[in-house]
Amino acid sequence: MYDKIRIAPSILSGDFMDMAQSIDQIEAAGAQWVHIDVMDGHFVPNLTMGVPFVAQARKITDLPLDVHLMITNPLVQIPWFIEAGADIITFHLEATTGDEAHRAIEMIHETNIKAAIAIKPKTDACALAPYINDIDMALVMSVEPGFSGQSFIEGSDLKVARIAEMATNSNAHPLIQVDGGISIETAPLVCSMGADVLVCGNAFFKADDKPAMVKQIIEKASASQMPQDA
Ligand code: DX5
Ligand code: ZN
Repeated sequence: MYDKIRIAPSILSGDFMDMAQSIDQIEAAGAQWVHIDVMDGHFVPNLTMGVPFVAQARKITDLPLDVHLMITNPLVQIPWFIEAGADIITFHLEATTGDEAHRAIEMIHETNIKAAIAIKPKTDACALAPYINDIDMALVMSVEPGFSGQSFIEGSDLKVARIAEMATNSNAHPLIQVDGGISIETAPLVCSMGADVLVCGNAFFKADDKPAMVKQIIEKASASQMPQDA
């Protein structure tokens, strides 16, 4: 048996003058989630969209809204994103100190929302160990967060493998998401190591035939997966 691959196109590569159409394209292509990159100009240099965007997106789609917070002080804004209608909230481990990450997970889980932690390329996979049994998803950044259209950092697939191993050893079952430079070429690499959710920015929005792109990437990624227990 193989685990199901999910594609989460990043709206950051969509049309900022027509986001409704970009969300329609994600739905029409058969992708599973809408990935929303929230950047504050502090945690990362770039500045993108925030709470009002999530609230508007909620009104026009039933697809899960996968909100990736690249912000400092995530504990302040998490309740606002819950209120706005997010389905999955991912915050960065590097943006927390002390017990803030545990408190953020608790805050998210008090509702029916999924909680995920992201780690930047230079953060060791082991940093997720204290949270592996509490999170619904681990996000491996395969580029430095801040911009779409960057190249996949080699070796990110090995970080996926370490997290998958850590989860197995802890009897935990988080999804593993990879974000940055994912394409038809890199998707099989990370999925062969245990990734099951693929964020695609440029690769999705630049594709002329988006339904075909989604079908092809899912087929190639699924074919690369290791068989799980029957
Ligand atoms: C980068 C963002 C990504 C980005 C992915 O900081 O978190 O979600 O939009 O874009 P691509 O797939 O083009 O690397
Ligand atoms: Zn992202």
